[in-house]
Amino acid sequence: MTIKRIGVLTGGGDCSGLNAVIRAITRSAIIGHNAQVIGIENGFEGLITGERQELTTKSTRDILTLGGTILGTTNKGNPFEFREFDHEKNVLVHDYSDKAVENFRKWDLDCLFVIGGEGSLEIGYKFFQKGVPVIGVPKTIDNDLEKTDYTFGYQTAVQVACDALDRLQTTGRSHDRVMILEVMGRNAGWIALEAGIAGGAHIILIPEIPYRIENIIRKIKLRKDGGSPYSIIMAAEGAKEEGGGVIVQNAAVDRLQGVPQLGGVGMYLAEQIKKQIDLEVRTTVLGHIQRGGSPTAFDRVLGTRLGSFAVEAAAAGKFGNMVALETPDIVLVPLEKLAGKVRTVPETSQLIRTAESIGINMGRVVM
Ligand code: F6P
Repeated sequence: MTIKRIGVLTGGGDCSGLNAVIRAITRSAIIGHNAQVIGIENGFEGLITGERQELTTKSTRDILTLGGTILGTTNKGNPFEFREFDHEKNVLVHDYSDKAVENFRKWDLDCLFVIGGEGSLEIGYKFFQKGVPVIGVPKTIDNDLEKTDYTFGYQTAVQVACDALDRLQTTGRSHDRVMILEVMGRNAGWIALEAGIAGGAHIILIPEIPYRIENIIRKIKLRKDGGSPYSIIMAAEGAKEEGGGVIVQNAAVDRLQGVPQLGGVGMYLAEQIKKQIDLEVRTTVLGHIQRGGSPTAFDRVLGTRLGSFAVEAAAAGKFGNMVALETPDIVLVPLEKLAGKVRTVPETSQLIRTAESIGINMGRVVM
């Protein structure tokens, strides 16, 4: 089929590489199909409010290396369950999905490219079911999407976390301290695990393996008794104690989003450790630094490949799919296979075995 006018939006939390994808979609659509490209602003919200801009080879010229998204994004604004405050600050929920479809048709678009994580792709799938020709592009620093080897943005976040760990290693060793680095990862511990291995962490805590504090203390003591009083702990924000829950920094922070803000496990751990061992403990929370800034070469290439292939898929009329990395190829995966799924680190993962085989403590006793 011919694609004459296409729409593209970025949804959910931002990450490095979004602009590389926007640029690749724009350039392949214009160069290969002479199509017009409409950038829908602030995620799905723009489909409701009508905020949009035309994207050209000129307007996307210098964005390959740029962090964030030139289109803006939000992790609120789901048109199917749009939350807004009334005068008394009560949350009202509306379904604006028909209005969004109406705009899509009014703007005469042939396809909607949804660049997003699990939540945005699920919304994209709902629009596909309502008759909108959708192609998804997998994004998230958490790398927790099914059916793709990697999401773009993840590699950059791992590199940022690894760089931070390298720095904590030198200061921790100099002061004989226990240094804790808290990184992102709500449900999946991929960033903590890979950056922890890359940065030589001694202890890695991920949401998938509830930890016992006595195992952590044992490891720190072992190191101390062996002549290395300093220890480096990498903890995902979603890491939790056996029998306990995740630590929420602010449950009410985002009533419009409906998801509590995580954070605080690093501080909590520091208190637990200080009580049981005579060492100084310091916590660093890396936070949104993992999401900002320029993408690594890997993410630039992955984002470009995904964007270009997404346009090819649209031109072939293969809607209702997500473009995905199945190394070494980019392939198509039906969006319906992803709905509601989060890819966590399997307990039997070779990565975990590798970590434990070289003596990294995962907060549990290795059998
Ligand atoms: O989903 C990606 C992610 O980075 C999570 O790891 C983290 O919990 C969340 O985004 C933070 O989002 P926000 O930008 O709303 O604080």
